[in-house]
Amino acid sequence: MAYSQLFRPLTLRSLDLKNRALIAPMCQYSAGADGVPTDWHLMHLGSFATGGFSLVLAEATAVVPEGRISPRDLGLWDDEQQASFARIADFVHEHGEGAKFGIQLAHAGRKASTSGDLPGLSGGPLAEDDGAWQTLAPTTEPFGDFPAPHALTEEEIEETVRAFGESTRRAVAAGVDTVQIHAAHGYLLHEFLQRRVNTRSDRWGGESLEDRMRFPLRVVEAVRAELPEELPLLLRVSAVDWREPTDTEEARTANAEDLADITEFVARARALGVDMVDVSSGGNLAAPQVRPGPGYQTVFAEHIRRETGVPTSAVGIITDPVQAEHILASDQADAVSLGREALRDPRWALNAARALGQETAWPGQYARARR
Ligand code: FNR
Repeated sequence: MAYSQLFRPLTLRSLDLKNRALIAPMCQYSAGADGVPTDWHLMHLGSFATGGFSLVLAEATAVVPEGRISPRDLGLWDDEQQASFARIADFVHEHGEGAKFGIQLAHAGRKASTSGDLPGLSGGPLAEDDGAWQTLAPTTEPFGDFPAPHALTEEEIEETVRAFGESTRRAVAAGVDTVQIHAAHGYLLHEFLQRRVNTRSDRWGGESLEDRMRFPLRVVEAVRAELPEELPLLLRVSAVDWREPTDTEEARTANAEDLADITEFVARARALGVDMVDVSSGGNLAAPQVRPGPGYQTVFAEHIRRETGVPTSAVGIITDPVQAEHILASDQADAVSLGREALRDPRWALNAARALGQETAWPGQYARARR
């Protein structure tokens, strides 16, 4: 049998992942009225577990109501949400042939209070009549043409840190194998990290990276404190914000500054107990100069892995098993995360094993499809 990187197990703390194909978190805008996972989520996430992926990460799940991107986002601040997540964790563990389950914990910051992104919805800010709420951010500077956020006070920052810890406690009680902290895509933690967004003048922001990292690192500490020692902690970052116009010295400098800041943040988060970082990009600019193509972000996963020694997962238009093999074999990353390709083919990992001539466990119910 040919040697496969993709089907080599990966151990993070005491968590054994049976292969290196992970599910990227993907908002479904399908929560019940109160952020509760529904049958849709059980089917959606369950299908990836039965489709051979080693780790299924649930979408951005808000730690407080005002941290939701839309009213249909998931949340994890009450018992009902926790119980519904437990149902999904149980399904993944019972039927996933060794698959593991995690939740991405998030706060949408100044990009909260939108209609979400379902077909027919704009994704833009909610109208007052549709239940818009006051968004929160490092400063009152809005994102694009969104309404102005409220600048978090020190006390509110501390409350948000506590909320991340509290949701982690609930995630563990629901039976997760890991938690991913969402510090990417221009949501609250990334807003604090980004020098051009976080222009606060107190110890939580401004010129100093140390100050801009203070809140996100406090979140890392709070989440780590609630996770049992044997469970790994994951982090998602945006390596650059794709400042425009692409071909100017100014934009190149800005992107290089972003990458240096985020690399330092990852190194510091590593020291606080982060075990793997998923490297994405963008989110703070309404009109980023990104030109997506196959594997367009893997260069950042490689950079951060090399500079910090933190295991990385690469993400972004990774669609082909041979491409995934290459990313892993060339030491760009330790794992790959799939988003849209997994929506097209929830059994991508089972099919990848066939394509690469690898043994992998199939659900017994599907055994006859294996050959
Ligand atoms: C996403 N993405 C995303 N990212 C994240 O960190 N949290 C989330 O909840 C979501 N939600 C989401 C919903 C949907 C429908 C899509 C398609 C994407 C981004 C996603 O995780 C991934 O980074 C990108 O889709 C790029 O990877 P692919 O799709 O090219 O494999």
